Amino acid sequence: MPETRQQDDNFIKEKNARHLWHPMAHPADSQSHPPTIVTRGEGVFITDIDGHRVVDGVGGLWNVNLGFSCEPIKQAISDQLDRLPYYSIFRGTTNDAAVELSYELAQFFEPDGLQRAFYTSGGGDSVETALRLARQYHKIRGDAGRVKFISLKKGYHGTHMGGASVNGDAKFRTQYEPLLPGCYHIPAPYTYRNPFDETDPARLAQLCAAALVDEIAFQGPNTIAAFIMEPVLGAGGVIPPHESFMPMMRDICDKHGILLIADEVITAFGRTGSWSGSRHWGVKPDFACTAKAITNGYFPFGAVMMSEKIAQLFEHDETGKAAIGHGYTYSGHPVGAAAALACLAETKRLDVPLNAAKRGTQMYEGFLRLQEKYELIGDVRGGHGLMTALELVSDRKTKTPPAKPVPLALQAAAYENGAMVRVSGPNVILSPALVISESEVETILSALDKGLAEASEL
Ligand SMILES: Cc1ncc(COP(=O)(O)O)c(C=O)c1O
Repeated sequence: MPETRQQDDNFIKEKNARHLWHPMAHPADSQSHPPTIVTRGEGVFITDIDGHRVVDGVGGLWNVNLGFSCEPIKQAISDQLDRLPYYSIFRGTTNDAAVELSYELAQFFEPDGLQRAFYTSGGGDSVETALRLARQYHKIRGDAGRVKFISLKKGYHGTHMGGASVNGDAKFRTQYEPLLPGCYHIPAPYTYRNPFDETDPARLAQLCAAALVDEIAFQGPNTIAAFIMEPVLGAGGVIPPHESFMPMMRDICDKHGILLIADEVITAFGRTGSWSGSRHWGVKPDFACTAKAITNGYFPFGAVMMSEKIAQLFEHDETGKAAIGHGYTYSGHPVGAAAALACLAETKRLDVPLNAAKRGTQMYEGFLRLQEKYELIGDVRGGHGLMTALELVSDRKTKTPPAKPVPLALQAAAYENGAMVRVSGPNVILSPALVISESEVETILSALDKGLAEASEL
């Protein structure tokens, strides 16, 4: 395999975290605990600079759905680089890959009622795009007072200013305030911890819906542009709502003229065991934000999909207000579009939701068995495709989060024993490639078992 770097391993290890700041990490912490240097990936395995090879339980970052060896995507990227490595799609020009992909995406999302694409460079851009176009939609309609956004606590929508403002976790917000005015949050359908002390998922869904109705009445329906939610909350710790939840949110939005933005950055393209998260719950959103697995993580790319209702209003506007003053240099990047075309074809050919559902059930049941064995596990969440989490506690009765070294020790021991797992606060989150096999899931479960055993000793 050709080597792409110019320096040897010692140089790379010595410079690790010295000249770069890592996202979602304290710079000093990265320097005192240098991150694992991953140098190779094949199938669902990654190998580090010391030659240690493990199953990647994280799937890159919820994005390498087809694994690290997807040749058709690599070939499409390489061919596109040879033919046309870049051309803009700002007004007046386009490129052939971007056009073809828009047709394919419209076919793919037809059952979700989504018919137009706006291209972006990633998930945060997709969220920003949907928020901005939602406001513009109401302005075109002559309802310019609808500017506010409502979202879920525990929700994750990236770290752009708009995304952070609708984000539902203080750790992505506090140090960056003041954020966008006009953003409000309601409780998440999180049965393990919620202000209602309600553990029944269906009843909790009702209570969250009532909180949304209450917030809408308090703000005034005609001040609200959109409600944004993930069909299954991901980075907030994998929180699958009750099946009634998203349909209820859709109904409430409809009743009050509020647009529904589905943040499908993780859930689109099969992760939940359905082709999209919205389809998983039988809901048709007004916008769906996608990115990540659209190119299998091989190229930074995203697409916001829009419903016929949105499309009709913008396309028939005669006032000029529908001119789009939004976009990115890399919107519709031909290499990203070519990667996405090949990725979509592979995703469909392999029928990945089928395996995601089966392996997701295997993983979830495995986690439930681990919960019987280890007091350290307070909650297990999943059962909807390959998004599964353990929430660690130091005391099951009080649900006190564990001391900081505990999840880190678990992660280190799991890695030593064959699997890369992700730790976020007290949560251990698993989101492997959707093409993972039964025995590879078993490898993750046994690595976690060993990790839990070591962490329980602390
Ligand atoms: C639901 C959701 N929305 C938005 C984002 C932000 O995407 P990106 O990191 O590509 O900007 C993420 C990233 O994990 C996500 O999970």
